[in-house]
Amino acid sequence: MQYRTFGKTGMKVSAVTLGTWGMGGVGWDVYDDEVKEDALKAAWEEGINLIDTAPAYNNGEAERFLGRTLKKLGIRNDVQIATKCGNFFVDGKIYVRDGRYEKIVGQCEESLRNLQTDHIDLMLIHWPDLKTPFEETMDALNHLKKEGKILHIGVSNFTVEQMQQIGQFGEIEAFQPQYSMAFREHEEAIRWAAGQGMGVMTYGSLGGGILSGRYREEREFAETDSRHRFYKHFHGPMFGKVMELLAVMDEISERNDDMPLSQIALLWCYSRPFVSTCITGAQKRERVQENARAFERELSAEDMKLLDEAVGKLSEV
Ligand SMILES: NC(=O)c1ccc[n+]([C@@H]2O[C@H](COP(=O)([O-])OP(=O)(O)OC[C@H]3O[C@@H](n4cnc5c(N)ncnc54)[C@H](OP(=O)(O)O)[C@@H]3O)[C@@H](O)[C@H]2O)c1
Repeated sequence: MQYRTFGKTGMKVSAVTLGTWGMGGVGWDVYDDEVKEDALKAAWEEGINLIDTAPAYNNGEAERFLGRTLKKLGIRNDVQIATKCGNFFVDGKIYVRDGRYEKIVGQCEESLRNLQTDHIDLMLIHWPDLKTPFEETMDALNHLKKEGKILHIGVSNFTVEQMQQIGQFGEIEAFQPQYSMAFREHEEAIRWAAGQGMGVMTYGSLGGGILSGRYREEREFAETDSRHRFYKHFHGPMFGKVMELLAVMDEISERNDDMPLSQIALLWCYSRPFVSTCITGAQKRERVQENARAFERELSAEDMKLLDEAVGKLSEV
C-alpha cells in the first residue's frame, strides 16, 4: 500500500479509501453481513487506513454496520473514519439537506453512537444546504471540533465559490468530489482545493464500477440503484464512450500481464498529484484486495499517455 499526507491535516492516508455506501444495503448489490465483514477485514489487512461512510447511506445503516464490525474485529484504532452530515431522510424516505446548528450537532452525536466511537477523524458536509447560512453550519462543526468529537472538517460536492464562502468561517481541510477516468467535471475545483492545502478524496473512482470492465453491454438497473440514478455513464451516449475507453484499457491490460482494469483505473486516478486517496466501494474480499494491490504495480509513461489521450476523448462528448 502507498500512503500520502492528507493535505494540511497531517493525516497519512492509504491510496485507497474503502467506501461503505453499498455496505449500507441500499442502492447497490446486496451481500450477507459475513461477506461485508470479511471485506472490511481484508481492507485492514491490506493497509487501507481510511474508511468513508455517511448517515445518508441507508439512514445510518452503513455507519451502524461499520461501527459493529470495527468493534467485532477490534480495529477501530487502526483506521480513520470519515463520515458526513447535513442531510437527512424524513420518514425514512424524503431526503433533505439541513445544515442548521442543532441538526449538525445532533447528527454528529448519532454518528458517534452508530460508529461506537468517541471521535470522528474527518467530518464532511455531504452536500451544500443553500437555505442555511454557511456560518451557522460551520459554527456547529467548529464547536464539535473544539469538543474533540471531530478532528477535521471537510466538504463534499461543493463548488469553488461555495468552498471560498464557507472557508471564511473556519478551516476546510478536505474535499470529496466525484472524479475518475470516466468523470472529470470537477477537476478544476479539485486542483483549486489541493492548491489550498486540502486533502482530496475522490469518490466513484471506478466510475461506479464501470471502469472495472464488468459491464460491456447496457443493462437495466432498479430505479433505486445508483447505477440508474446517480452515475450517468451506464446509459446513453456516455456508455458507448466509456466502452471506447475500456478498449484502450484492455490493450494496456494485455501488455501488463492482464492487469485488472480496476487497477488501471486506480493507478490513473492516483497518478494525479492533486489526489490524496481514491475511494472505492467494494463489498467482497477479492475486490478489496484487487483494488488495494493496484499500488504494488506501475504503468509505463507510455501507457499513462495512452490513457490520458483516451480520457481526453471522453470529455469531448
Ligand atoms: N460524497 C458523496 O456524495 C459520495 C457519492 C458517492 C459515493 N461516495 C463514497 O465513495 C464510495 C465509492 O464510490 P461508489 O461506491 O459510489 O463507486 P465506485 O467505487 O466507483 O464503484 C462501486 C462499484 O464498483 C464495484 N467494484 C469495486 N471494486 C471492484 C473490482 N475490483 N472489480 C469489479 N467491481 C468492483 C462495486 O461492487 P460491489 O459493491 O458489488 O463490491 C460497486 O458496484 C462510496 O461507497 C461512498 O463511500 C460519496
